[in-house]
Amino acid sequence: MAVLVTGGAGYIGSHTCVELLDAGYEVVVLDNLSNSSEKSLDRVKEITGKDLKFYKGDILDRAIIQKIFDENKIDSCIHFAGLKAVGESVQKPWEYYNNNITGTLTLVDVMRQNGCKNIIFSSSSTVYGTPDEVPVTEKTPKHPCTNPYGWTKSMLEQILSDIQFADNEWNVILLRYFNPIGAHKSGRIGENPNGIPNNLMPYITQVAVGKLEKLGVFGDDYDTPDGTGVRDYIHVVDLAVGHVKALKKIEERAGLKIYNLGTGTGYSVLDIVKNFEEATGVNIPYEIKPRRAGDIAENYADASLAKEELGWVAENGIREMCADSWNWQKNNPNGYEDNEISDDEANAAAGGYVILPNMPTPDSNGGVA
Ligand code: NAD
Ligand code: WQD
Repeated sequence: MAVLVTGGAGYIGSHTCVELLDAGYEVVVLDNLSNSSEKSLDRVKEITGKDLKFYKGDILDRAIIQKIFDENKIDSCIHFAGLKAVGESVQKPWEYYNNNITGTLTLVDVMRQNGCKNIIFSSSSTVYGTPDEVPVTEKTPKHPCTNPYGWTKSMLEQILSDIQFADNEWNVILLRYFNPIGAHKSGRIGENPNGIPNNLMPYITQVAVGKLEKLGVFGDDYDTPDGTGVRDYIHVVDLAVGHVKALKKIEERAGLKIYNLGTGTGYSVLDIVKNFEEATGVNIPYEIKPRRAGDIAENYADASLAKEELGWVAENGIREMCADSWNWQKNNPNGYEDNEISDDEANAAAGGYVILPNMPTPDSNGGVA
């Protein structure tokens, strides 16, 4: 039996494919590569020494989803495919609602027509809006979202819950991710944002590698210990392992379940800068900027339900998250756009720092380790 992984070429999807293959699952990926590269899947195969099947296509396209069901014995689906840029969603709400919501409705319809009623959905801590309390538990009330992206997650949670309520043959697990960072220890797969990153960690790593001059810290007057925003950063490999645990839960007939996937610890923006510097030896220049519209002061998870019911806890600490983010960035300064590196370089990358020809050196950019 195989697992269909939509969006499997993306950041969280590719890391999850590694964990699924390592756990012995057969993996079939559907991705339109709108925000990813097929190279990530080559590297998943390289890391695991195992094969997976890739279909380049869209979750809006019934025909390709049906073809996947015709050609494979799909038992469950881990559904990552979606657009995720918060700012862009404000500019292009139709595209976000169509891609994320119509896409999911299409996927789920073809799934049920083929008798496959097991789905794990990528939700987000964004559904809590401005939470009443921290840490948030799964029972903390959801609040209005501040952007169309967030609404797609909140609405899809409702849609999938209603579908499961109407037909209890469905097993639906909604995973609310907090802030995924880090990369696989090999440095071969990682986050590969288009253009200037919106999120904190890829911005920091691009400052570290010399592509961006300095970090702008969005606000230092929040009601938090140092005034900067506090979040629950979670290592992407821990998150990926959480999906394998959720799949086991699905196999035990989960019904409808919702889990926070976070570490339970909040770190401020300045905590992250400090930990990154200490973990990597690279200095991160920054300046305080005004608050970013739509940001909240703090959010972090109570992840005890995932521990109790899935037997899952995040194992990597903040230093490992920072070190692994940097290991990916320094070895792939331009993400998957870089020329393939040799096997020797790849092997060295697994254990140490490889200087690639187009990387800034300490001489060209005082500060890069
Ligand atoms: P990502 O952009 O790296 O991965 C998403 C993948 O989906 C990409 O490979 C993209 O090409 C693909 N895709 C998008 N629309 C598609 C479509 N219509 N058909 C087929 N493929 C399509 O993002 P990610 O960070 O890996 O996020 C994965 C999921 O987790 C997303 O649903 C995202 O909203 C959610 N999530 C992400 C975060 C985060 O901070 N990264 C936090 C919470 C939730
Ligand atoms: C983290 C902290 C910023 C960039 C977003 C989405 C959320 C979820 C995860 C998908 C905040 C500060 C950031 C920078 C900064 N994604 N910051 N300078 O905003 O918690 O969540 O990604 O579901 O939906 O909203 O993450 O990494 O953007 O910001 O000071 O250049 O870093 O203000 O306090 P966020 P982030």
